[in-house]
Parts: sequence; C-alpha cells; structure tokens
Amino acid sequence: MKISVIKSDLEQVDTDLLALPFSSGALKKETENTLVALGFDLQVLKDFKAEAGEVVVLYGGSKKLAAARVALLGLGEGKNIADWRKAAVAFAAKAVDMKLEKAAVDCSGIKSLADATKQNVATLAAAFVEGFMAGMYEFDRLKSGKLEKKKSSQKPKEISEVLLRIDGDVVEEIEKGVTEGEIVGSCQKMARDLVNLPGNYLQAEDLASAAEESGKKYGYDVTVFHKKEIEALGMGGLLAVNKGSFHPPTFSVLDYTPQGQAKLVIALVGKGVTFDSGGISLKPSENMGEMKSDMSGAASVLGTIEAVARLGLPLHVIGLIPATDNMPSGTAQTPGDVITTYSGITVEVGNTDAEGRLILADALTYAKEKYNPDVIIDVATLTGACIVALGYKVAGLFSNNDKLADEIFQAGQQSGENVWRMPLWDLYDEQIKSDVADVNNTGGRGAGSVTAAKFLEKFIDGHKKWAHIDIAGPSFQPKGAGKVNGGTGFGVSLLVELLKKWA
Ligand code: BES
Ligand code: ZN
Ligand code: ZN
Repeated sequence: MKISVIKSDLEQVDTDLLALPFSSGALKKETENTLVALGFDLQVLKDFKAEAGEVVVLYGGSKKLAAARVALLGLGEGKNIADWRKAAVAFAAKAVDMKLEKAAVDCSGIKSLADATKQNVATLAAAFVEGFMAGMYEFDRLKSGKLEKKKSSQKPKEISEVLLRIDGDVVEEIEKGVTEGEIVGSCQKMARDLVNLPGNYLQAEDLASAAEESGKKYGYDVTVFHKKEIEALGMGGLLAVNKGSFHPPTFSVLDYTPQGQAKLVIALVGKGVTFDSGGISLKPSENMGEMKSDMSGAASVLGTIEAVARLGLPLHVIGLIPATDNMPSGTAQTPGDVITTYSGITVEVGNTDAEGRLILADALTYAKEKYNPDVIIDVATLTGACIVALGYKVAGLFSNNDKLADEIFQAGQQSGENVWRMPLWDLYDEQIKSDVADVNNTGGRGAGSVTAAKFLEKFIDGHKKWAHIDIAGPSFQPKGAGKVNGGTGFGVSLLVELLKKWA
C-alpha cells in the first residue's frame, strides 16, 4: 500500500473515498461551508454528529468533484489524539468494508487539530497512518477462498493507495510522521499475524525463525538457543513447561545496537507460549483455542525491536523470548513438582497452568545477569485475573519504580494502549509461600495478577527499574467483544512510544 502526501484542491483529489474530518465543535459552521462549497445538500448533516469514529458516506455533490464519494469523519470534540486515531481506524474499516482501492483524507485542518490536541503535526500524521493500517487489518492467510461464490475473474479488492491532502507548509513534518506511522503500523501488523496464527502453524521454532528473519531484514542480531543449549544453561523453568511437549523449546535473544553511542540499555522480555492448554492442570475446553494467543508478549517484543531498528533509535534494546507450548502428556510436569530455575531458586509447581511465570523467571534472570540493563520490562498474557480486574482494553502494570511506572502510564495515554498500575506490596508474598521449595507458582484465589507479578519480582535479582505488563486482556479480543477480533498487537505502540521518549 502506498501512502502519499499531496497538496491539491479538495475538488481535485482523485480517489474512491475522500474523508472530511470534523470535530463536534466545528460542526456547524465549518462543515456547512465545506459541504456547500462541494455542492452537497445540508440535509446530510441530519445524520452526522461527529462522534469519534463516526463515518457517513455521501453521494452526489458537485460534478467537479474528482472523488467518487465523500465521507464525513467524526473526531468527537477534536481534543485528544485517541479520537483522531479512532477516526482513522473507523475510516479504514469502512473503506475495506466497501471494497475500495483508493482512500484519501483531507488534512487541511491538521495544524489546528495539533494545537487543540497539544500534539505536533508529525505525531498526528503518524497516528493517522497507524490507525488506518490497524483499521484495514484482516487475517485471511488461512482462507483458501475455495468455498466463496464469486466469478473467477473477480479479484478481491484491497486498499492500494492512501492520500493525505494538505495545504500550508507542513509537508516535511507530515511525511516524517507518515514514515514513522508506516513502520509502527507494519510492526503491529506482524505482531497481530503471529498472534492469530494457530498452534499448528506457529511453534517455538517458528517464533524464533520469525525473529531471525526480521533481524536479517532490518539489521539486528538474533541468537536462538535450542533445546541442547537451554539444557546446558540450566533454564529449568522453560524446560519444565516444555516437558509435556512434542516440540522443542527455544530461547531467542534479539539484540539491536545503534550506530552511535546508546543512551540506555533496555531489556524487553516477552512470554512466548505458542499454545497454553494448561498442561496437566488442563484448562476447560470452552474457548481454549484462544490460547494460541499466549505468545502475544513475544510478538509485541519482536514487533517493538523491529520498529526500534527501523526507526534507528539511539538505544541498545535487547529482546528475550522464551518459547514453548504447554501440553499435558506422560512426560509433562505434574502439580506438586519442584523445579530449579536458571537463577537457582526452586519452585513448587502448584499449578501447571501458571506456566508463563516459569519461563519468564528464567528470561528475567538471564536479562539481569547477562546485560545488567538500565531497565527491564516484561510483557505477558500472564493471568485471567488481570482480565477480571481491568477487562479487555487495559493492561495491568506492575513496577518497583515509580518514575518508570509513570513513564509507561504516560506512553499508554499517548499511544492509546492504556495501562493501569496495580500494587506490588510485600504483603502478597504470603500467598506464594511454599512448604517444600523457595516459592510456589500459584497464590490461591485472591489477587491472581498481583501474586503472579510478585513471583516474577523474585527473579530480577534486586534490579531497581523493572516493570511487568500483563496484557492478557487487551492482546486478544474474543469473538463478539467489539469490532476487532483476535490479535491486537497490543504493546508495540506502547513500547515504541516509551522508547522514543528515551531516545
Ligand atoms: N495464559 C494464561 C492467562 C490468560 C488467561 C491469558 C486468559 C489470556 C486469557 C496463564 O498461563 C494462566 O493460565 N494463568 C492462570 C494462573 C493460575 C493457574 C494461577 C490463570 O490466570 O488462571
Ligand atoms: Zn496457563
Ligand atoms: Zn499462559
């Protein structure tokens, strides 16, 4: 898909659908003036309230109009970037729905929108492109099309061109934003594809290959430890979870080193459970298929590192991805087992379904020991309890550092990937005490997402700047939860936003 910035009269924009964004405040005067100028009847405004993400398609208008159709695009009050992004998502989804090939948006008001939202023009352009790419996302690579009733000559249409129409002297800024938006948007798409791929298409080795491919393409190092090396390292958490599996585990290390001096060293750890059946503590079968998304943290880390490499940020960013599926079998670990993790800390496996924390434990220790980074952040679909607490749109944030927690919260507000901080008080340690080992991997009924985070905290070896982001809710939208189904790529936009602030 080609995205271009053009300077031309509104009437001359040659496209299938031209979007005219309006905020509710500007609705009366500005919309009326524009519509009259384009030859539309003001009656059309009866159905348009400029709610964020509202799209009303208009037909007719002046004969001079080069665009085949015009759409009124609602920005809500036009005071925040989230509504602008929402509008971009909705506009793209509409264009896909209508099977159009070319879409355009009038960005002549982008300067005043930038003032009203306290953003710069490049940021708004980036958010639009990112939103548009998210809105047109479809996961159809496993559809053969063989059962569709259509004439063989009919090629399915998809959007091939997007135009951002501007006036004034903001071309360079907008183009900078478009480039950045395209990078983040495509990394998000890669993450979503990985999440949506089912277990029979994506095993640990496949996840590692995806990282290797990305590293080769965008110039960062990827080292994959295979089962023998994982055994030699003594990663007892990852090996224990993998015990029931037919497929070997992998531990991938993605290493992006910038050209010049790196301002900070950051380790990003992502949970890569390619399918979580629960193991011997088997999950109920209803919706178990959604557990193909249990590697969403890994996908977000991979997407983020690729984006950082493509943006060339002056940071040393290391991605660590422990990967395996979690299966029951005669060789699987069993509840009550005591395992020794990479750190040497022993763990009583109270529940084999609390597997994420076992593989993350090894990766966190490895991150601290090998790199001693300035910051460690892990991203994981860790607990159902986090969904109970915060729902499907917001991630849980846990951190032992107030400044880091605040920075991640702010990045969430800016990127639209919202996080909410939860406590890490030591009083929760009581719940994960074990009689036979150093710690238990389950903490009983209450505060499941907190006890999971308290467990992880034991493996950072006293590191002072660590955060854990539980993305169990927002990483995957179950069928019927809203317009978006399946993998969301949650975390890419959030982490890139955070890293850009540090760059
Ligand atoms: N992968 C799940 C958490 C999860 C649940 C992610 C729903 C996305 C949607 C995790 O491995 C898990 O099973 N956690 C258990 C922990 C419990 C056994 C202590 C849970 O949340 O029930
Ligand atoms: Zn589990
Ligand atoms: Zn899991």
